[in-house]
Amino acid sequence: MAHEVHIAGLAKTYGSQRVLGPLDLHLEAGTITVVIGRSGCGKSTLLRCLGGLEKPDAGSIRIGAGQLRREDIGYVFQEPRLMPWLTVSRNVAFGLRGHPARDDRVAEALAIVGLQQAASLLPKQLSGGMAQRAALARALAPKPELILLDEPFSALDPFSRESLQQHLLHLYRHYRTTMVLITHDMDEALTLGDRILVMQGPPGKIVADLSRHDTKARLREALEPGGRGPPGPQAGAERPQTPLRARAL
Ligand SMILES: Nc1ncnc2c1ncn2[C@@H]1O[C@H](COP(=O)(O)OP(=O)(O)OP(=O)(O)O)[C@@H](O)[C@H]1O
Ligand SMILES: [Mg+2]
Repeated sequence: MAHEVHIAGLAKTYGSQRVLGPLDLHLEAGTITVVIGRSGCGKSTLLRCLGGLEKPDAGSIRIGAGQLRREDIGYVFQEPRLMPWLTVSRNVAFGLRGHPARDDRVAEALAIVGLQQAASLLPKQLSGGMAQRAALARALAPKPELILLDEPFSALDPFSRESLQQHLLHLYRHYRTTMVLITHDMDEALTLGDRILVMQGPPGKIVADLSRHDTKARLREALEPGGRGPPGPQAGAERPQTPLRARAL
C-alpha cells in the first residue's frame, strides 16, 4: 500500500555547512516525485535522510500514519550494488528472508523487469542495464511503501536508459508505490515525474514545483533562471500535450 510522505523542517548540516533545508514537503501517496538540480545542491542528502541512511539535524519525516521504518523503504542507487556471489534471484530475494511468499514475490518482480531468463545468472554475467533491472526488482520485491531512486539510470547508455524508464513505469503501474527519483536529466524528469521539484543549494531548497504537464522550456528556466533567455516559439511543442503516463497506459 502506498503512503503519503510528510517532511517538516528537515535540515542537515555537515560540519559548519548547512547542506539541506529547512525543507517542508508533502508527497502524495502513489505518485512519482522527481527531484532535479545541479550537482552538490543536496539531492542525495535529502534522499538519504528520507531513507534513514542519514540522520537529519532537525525536522521530521513521516510515512503514512506511522513513523519511518527501514523495511518500508526500497532504495535504488546509481550503480546496481548487487552481491556478486549471489544469483539474480537470490539478490532479489535478499530482502525477503523468512517471507512466506518469497519465491512468488521474486518471480513476480523478475517478470516485471523482464529478467525471468536471467534468474540463475551471477551479476558478472549481466549487462549494465540487466544489472540495474535486477536492482529495481530487488527494491520492489518486498513491496515497500516508499521507493527512493538516486540517479538510477545515469550510468546507462541512452537506449538502456529509455528501456529502464519504461520498466520503472511498468513497475509503478503494478505496485503504485510512492516514489522519489533523483535525476539530472530534464527529459527523464518529464517522462517519469508526476511532480518535478527543482532544487537549488546548498543548502538544498525547492525553488520550483512543476508537474509532468509542464514543458521542458519551463523546467529549463526553473533550473537556469535567465540562463538561456525566454522560451522560444517551439517551447510548447517540446513535449506532447497528452501526458506520457496516460499514453503509456
Ligand atoms: N558525508 C558528507 N560530509 C560532508 N559533506 C557532505 C557529505 N555528503 C555530502 N556533502 C556535501 O553536501 C552537499 C550536498 O551533497 P549531495 O550529495 O546531497 O549533492 P547532490 O545534489 O546529490 O549532488 P550530485 O548531483 O553531484 O549527486 C555537497 O556540498 C557535498 O559536498
Ligand atoms: Mg547525488
